[in-house]
Amino acid sequence: MKNQKELFQLPEDIHYLNGAYMSPLLRSVEEAGIAALIKKRNPTQITPTDFFSVAETLRGNFGKLVNCSGEQVAIIPSASYGLTSAIQNLPKDNGSTALVVSDEFPSGYYAIEKWCKINNKQLKVIKAPESMVNRGQQWNRQIIDAINDDTAVVLMSSIHWTDGTLYDLKAIGKKCKSHNAIFIVDGTQSVGALPIDVVSFQIDALVCAGYKWLMGPYSIGLAYYSEFFNSGSPLEETWMNRSNAQIFSSLTNYVDDYSIGAGGYNMGEFSNFNLLPMLNAAIEQILKWDPSNIQSYCDQLSQPLINFLNDNEFWVEVHDYRAKHLFGIGLPEGVDSQLVLQKLVDNRIFVSVRGKAIRISIHLYNTDDDIAALISLLKGILAEKR
Ligand SMILES: Cc1ncc(COP(=O)(O)O)c(C=O)c1O
Repeated sequence: MKNQKELFQLPEDIHYLNGAYMSPLLRSVEEAGIAALIKKRNPTQITPTDFFSVAETLRGNFGKLVNCSGEQVAIIPSASYGLTSAIQNLPKDNGSTALVVSDEFPSGYYAIEKWCKINNKQLKVIKAPESMVNRGQQWNRQIIDAINDDTAVVLMSSIHWTDGTLYDLKAIGKKCKSHNAIFIVDGTQSVGALPIDVVSFQIDALVCAGYKWLMGPYSIGLAYYSEFFNSGSPLEETWMNRSNAQIFSSLTNYVDDYSIGAGGYNMGEFSNFNLLPMLNAAIEQILKWDPSNIQSYCDQLSQPLINFLNDNEFWVEVHDYRAKHLFGIGLPEGVDSQLVLQKLVDNRIFVSVRGKAIRISIHLYNTDDDIAALISLLKGILAEKR
């Protein structure tokens, strides 16, 4: 697959290696947003059908991406909202421990910490191994070993958001099911760029903010909830999630039941006329590309950088435990991280620092030039040190 730079409008004078912070907008997504905004100039152009039709298409498209029916998908404003919906509907009688990995993103951490306090459960953190040798493999082993009959729930990101450690979700999901534990995954940092399958990974809830690897605008996201959650309670009571919502003339014939599947977890005003067409345009493009091709492209693109890092005492996770679109690098002994950051800024190379890692995140809009610019800068820093 060749680079897709022409589908974006990134300025020529920057090297954007920071999709994990937020994605740039595809031209098609920007156009969908502008068209949507203009539509409301004249409200007669927005019909009652429009409250539901784009939402249905979007839910179906997300379902195609993660392998579920659109009915099991909910539209959410943020990952925290989607994670809280799942956590508040957890069973209380299937174990007394909740498992998370260390430095889990706060949106999930705070929600599960609160649930543990309220329900008198123990929160157990599976720490990243101290040793950087075979770190990903050891970490995965420790997570799997920690799941037992006392595990009520495992909550974790699909890859580690700071350094891209790849988790074996299939093995973790299988272990969860064998001990009757619920498996909640925050897919924000991978879904859209890395294949995921909620059925074969036996995931109970998969929650994604939309502005990173789903390449949508801010403040809109999507979540898959398994049928286990179909009888649960949403965080808010919106008329739009009741079974009679599409009959505008009789909304006050109040009903008890929610829309089928995970429809009850859709946020209030989920038909957001501006954001939904944008997120949908983005996901349609991702489906055309296919996340497995995005991984292959990023793998190939990053190869010269990985070779350089390995040859020069930087730390980077090994191939099998490293996401190819997002990975952390550790600096060699004696290299000042503040100096590196300053040089990156001076050279208009955009990355993030998360925890101890410099986080590099790439996509189809990146080219060999971006990688070469980063290698050249790191070479310069090493030369200064010697
Ligand atoms: C793993 C992960 N989850 C969630 C989010 C965003 O969470 P929220 O949508 O609750 O702001 C981020 C943002 O960086 C993230 O990295």
